[in-house]
Amino acid sequence: MNGASPGRLTALPEWAEFEHAARNAKIDPSRLAVINSAGIDLDISGQYASPALEQAGAALLEARDFNAQRDLLLEGGIVNVTEDRAAWHTALRAPAAQPEIAAERQRLFEFIHTADSQRKWRNIVHIGIGGSDWGVRLAVAAFGYAGTWRNVHFVANIDGHAIQGGLAGFDPHDTLIVMASKSFTTAETMENGQRALEWLRAAGVAEPYKQVVAITARPEAALNWGIPAAHIFKLWDWVGGRFSLWSAVSMTTALAVSADVIAGMQMGAAAMDKHFAEAPIAENAPVQMALSGIVNRSILGYGSLNIAPYDFRLANLVPYIQQLEMESLGKSVDLNGVPVDIPTGPAVWGMPGTDAQHTFFQWLHQGSDGAPVDFIVAAQADHGWPHHHRILLANCLAQRQALLQGKSYDAALEQCLESGMPQDRAQWLAHHRVYGGGRPSNLIVLPRLSPYTLGALLALYEHKVFVQGVIWGINPFDQWGVEYGKHLASGLAQELNGTKATSTHHDASTRHWVERLKGPCTDT
Ligand code: F6P
Repeated sequence: MNGASPGRLTALPEWAEFEHAARNAKIDPSRLAVINSAGIDLDISGQYASPALEQAGAALLEARDFNAQRDLLLEGGIVNVTEDRAAWHTALRAPAAQPEIAAERQRLFEFIHTADSQRKWRNIVHIGIGGSDWGVRLAVAAFGYAGTWRNVHFVANIDGHAIQGGLAGFDPHDTLIVMASKSFTTAETMENGQRALEWLRAAGVAEPYKQVVAITARPEAALNWGIPAAHIFKLWDWVGGRFSLWSAVSMTTALAVSADVIAGMQMGAAAMDKHFAEAPIAENAPVQMALSGIVNRSILGYGSLNIAPYDFRLANLVPYIQQLEMESLGKSVDLNGVPVDIPTGPAVWGMPGTDAQHTFFQWLHQGSDGAPVDFIVAAQADHGWPHHHRILLANCLAQRQALLQGKSYDAALEQCLESGMPQDRAQWLAHHRVYGGGRPSNLIVLPRLSPYTLGALLALYEHKVFVQGVIWGINPFDQWGVEYGKHLASGLAQELNGTKATSTHHDASTRHWVERLKGPCTDT
């Protein structure tokens, strides 16, 4: 993808072959296909499969020059062509880190060690949004769910209520403000950072900047903002925002839980990187996930992907994967600038099970559209109530089984009759109790939820997304669509404040609401 165009996907004979094979494949309930990678099991038995599809998938990857693209990614080549840079997050977790990365990691661990040994900062306010937020939130909830010795609040949203609540109840004299922003220009983070600074000043903190830390790819901007150099941690231009949890952005995780969490996650992710680099195509977990995702989205036409972590601690996995998948694959123009003529990245949504079962699983089972589901569960729990875990596992397996196998009209009728209901009612009711089945799913089983397995899991999704980008021929590392919204919002904010006239270029409704909402938004 270094500027060389991969050509139109649907013009390839290998695509036609892949599509043909997918349309003739089926979900076979008698098939068991489990891939172990980096200690986690990916069960793809619930996906459309056939020997022809497997062969066609391998041929398609070859036609898209997959091996060379993967090498380019892992070697830090220019894979993000529209922004002319690498997407080298794998370098941040490589066991033999480059000197510059190792030195920054060392600085981070020393900062954490000093804070911990001096029992400094009872409270942390982590300010950042998108990739500068979700990964850290995910890890803190996953490993600090039972409480952490520091209190942590996350503030992402520009809505003033967010920073109001984020600072509430904390002693300003014992609070560290962590500002995570690759660009150090993101409006939400800069505004919320200012409010936090004002809060420190208002409480009489003598040297407020000494209570602020920045993690950014623009250290000079943080320095200009007033943050001391010793409190500025670097991330690099070649780390995409949505991959920044592998950098010092995870400082909050370390302060809240332990630096071991960062180290463990990096090790797990590095093990998945190795698997991705070395495993043959048929046993390569990210590659197989990517191929079945493309079958589901581009050939079978499923518009969305449901993420169902059967683990209360992984509630933030859903927004994390949402950003990873949707910001990366929400593109419909290929690297040649030509519209892709098949559907690309699906909408991603979900909620932890079993809550999800009582919220939207009905739609997954019997709704007219349905969606492929990724079930994620840990074989072993970390609490002392085995029967809770047994019931959780049973629910996870049951939901997946129902989607996979379904229930026929005859089976439903038999059940109705067995319950003793009259024949005519049974014949009518059985229609409502049919499950179509044949709905695709993955089952991902972690031996336990540990930093290592979470790291491996996140890297599994990262690489899956990359492979899909290669096949669709789109750039999964930019996000131009987000930028336009930011540009519009900054103009509208000036209009609402009355510092700029309402633009005549607005549509009628926007113009109406700018005029109507001006009053309450004007600075006093
Ligand atoms: O949402 C767009 C985005 O650019 C994300 O990619 C990024 O994670 C987020 O904004 C925050 O950006 P920054 O870290 O530069 O503040």
